[in-house]
Amino acid sequence: MSGLFVRLVDQKRAPCRFYVNGEPCTARQGDTVMTALLTRNAHLRLTEFTGSPRAGFCLMGACQDCLVTQESGERIRACATLLQADMRFVIPEQVP
Ligand code: FES
Repeated sequence: MSGLFVRLVDQKRAPCRFYVNGEPCTARQGDTVMTALLTRNAHLRLTEFTGSPRAGFCLMGACQDCLVTQESGERIRACATLLQADMRFVIPEQVP
């Protein structure tokens, strides 16, 4: 699976495990949830209206376009939340 983001720096920070749709993934400690998810995914969510993929817009916590759902059902702003070990996300697959 290819992501939208490519990590160019900080490749040696300690790893941080998290899960997407139950699959274990690895990012780096200090990553935002957005960085962690978009280095492996092409989107964060699908819109409720059209089902089109979204991956954030403002990147500074204002627009809520980056809301991602955790397995608990809680939604968080991916751009404004630091990844914590063992966070679990549900990212819907885009229907072709
Ligand atoms: S991208 Fe706008 S709130 Fe996260």
